[in-house]
Amino acid sequence: MPAVSQSPDYDNSSPDSDGTAVRRNTLRTDLWVWLVIVLGTVLVPALMMSPWAYLTAYPPPPPKTDAQIIAEKAAGIGLEFDAQSYVRGKSLFMTTCIACHTPKGGSIPNLGKDIVHSSFTAGSTDKELMTFMKMGRNPGDPLNTTGVGMPPKGGNPALMDKDLADLITFIRGLQVMEDVSFK
Ligand code: HEC
Repeated sequence: MPAVSQSPDYDNSSPDSDGTAVRRNTLRTDLWVWLVIVLGTVLVPALMMSPWAYLTAYPPPPPKTDAQIIAEKAAGIGLEFDAQSYVRGKSLFMTTCIACHTPKGGSIPNLGKDIVHSSFTAGSTDKELMTFMKMGRNPGDPLNTTGVGMPPKGGNPALMDKDLADLITFIRGLQVMEDVSFK
């Protein structure tokens, strides 16, 4: 009696002789194996090398503060630099001096001059700068260069010697940053 095929997928009339059923199952298994291989060799490494994975593994270092940059530059030229004094001086500068000298010690017409690239600042010792800052400079002073006055202590009589020293550290820091050499 001839065998009747019951299913187009599964020829059980002679599964062992022609191997049809066995081949189909193997094909399905092969697909899964290939899928796993493709995912494993292509997708997973691709994800691991993605910018996201890279940034998670190696987050970029936080940007350097100006005090850090100056500290490094100062060390490079063998100069002592007190970062804490610089930070204190900076905050004093931002309250007392900024209005006439900009946040970076620059000039504002009819108010204040550039104190970073100034030959007076570069040519003065810290002690001389201290004396200058306590006194200020009248418009009538022979040393005056702009015809505008610099008030004593920038107009803030509350500044103590220690504060003025921190302000000088700040100005020196700006000079190091700008590669201006000074006394
Ligand atoms: C009201 C405006 C004003 C303020 C506030 C002020 N300055 Fe000045 N500063 C001037 C002027 C104007 C000059 C330039 C004087 C001149 O023409 O010689 C000057 C000059 C200077 C100089 C000398 C620069 C040079 O080349 O002669 C230094 C250093 C300086 N100021 C530091 C400071 C500091 C530090 C502060 C804050 C504590 C400050 N100034 C606050 C107006 C100001």
